[in-house]
Amino acid sequence: MRRGSIASLLGIGIVSGGIAAAVALAIPWLPVSASKEAGRIDFVFWFVVTICIVIFAVVAAAILYSVVVFRAAPDDDSDGPPIHGHTGLEIAWTIVPTVLVTAIGIVSAIVLSRDDAIAKNAMNVNVTAQQFEWTFSYPEAHNLTSATLMLPRGRETVLHMQSRDVIHAFFVPEFRENEDIVPGLTTTLNVTPTRDGTYPVICNELCGLGHSTMRSTVTVMEPAAFDKWLKGQSKAVTSPSAVTAGAAVFKNNGCAACHTLTAAKATGKVGPDLDKLPAYAQQAKQPLASFVRTSITDPNAYIQPGYPKNVMPQTFGKAIPKQQLDALVTYLINSSK
Ligand code: CUA
Repeated sequence: MRRGSIASLLGIGIVSGGIAAAVALAIPWLPVSASKEAGRIDFVFWFVVTICIVIFAVVAAAILYSVVVFRAAPDDDSDGPPIHGHTGLEIAWTIVPTVLVTAIGIVSAIVLSRDDAIAKNAMNVNVTAQQFEWTFSYPEAHNLTSATLMLPRGRETVLHMQSRDVIHAFFVPEFRENEDIVPGLTTTLNVTPTRDGTYPVICNELCGLGHSTMRSTVTVMEPAAFDKWLKGQSKAVTSPSAVTAGAAVFKNNGCAACHTLTAAKATGKVGPDLDKLPAYAQQAKQPLASFVRTSITDPNAYIQPGYPKNVMPQTFGKAIPKQQLDALVTYLINSSK
């Protein structure tokens, strides 16, 4: 091969590789990275992208060079010279991909095993998925339940995830991790948040008509702020005053998103107006206390006319500890009188 040809091949390769690298680097393909695990996953991502850019440059150089240099003259109808293979090339394009794919496999395995390692001081959080709601509960705080996930920055958290119906998947793009939640199994996911902020929790498995609405948020905060939140909430939900406890349970479980309740300054319009509970109970011909309780634990048992079925999550009966459920019922009864 002439020196000029090698120089042109190299030149085309460097230019195409440069363009590909610019596209890879200049466009923000990924959301911010908010956890230790995300940093490792991103390393694998860029490791693979770099390999791809080099391969792209080699292929682009060979193609563009051949298109220009070996172009047939307009009046040339002859066949090209017969070629019977090239042993050197065959060996090269077998060995190089083998080495690259093996390297990707080894790097991925190291990253996955590190992401799966559980730290000694890890915090446990239970995650319950059900069409089409997320519930998070904190075993360290009297199983305090919350409709959104709160996490301290810098401490590893192990999510223990269960489904009450079909297969869902827990996904936070900023954590780069995705894990299926399968009925009958408890799957786990480790996350060590590194960046304060609020990020989306997305269900990443088609799980029914409301799949696209099965969303929550995760808020990462200062460890001190998290401790304050956890202590404050667990104190509130276990308060001997049913009103204090009930109000905290109401707030933490996101009831205000769908219901109106003047006492809680809630103005949701999706579900029944909780200021009118006594009237609803009368319409349903049920005693108020058991009516309120059943409406939370088995929401489809009685549907207030004018409101849709299957919208109220059916997780609360199992997710909210009994004492907190009692407080919520008392709170609702007192608030609606
Ligand atoms: Cu749950 Cu999609």
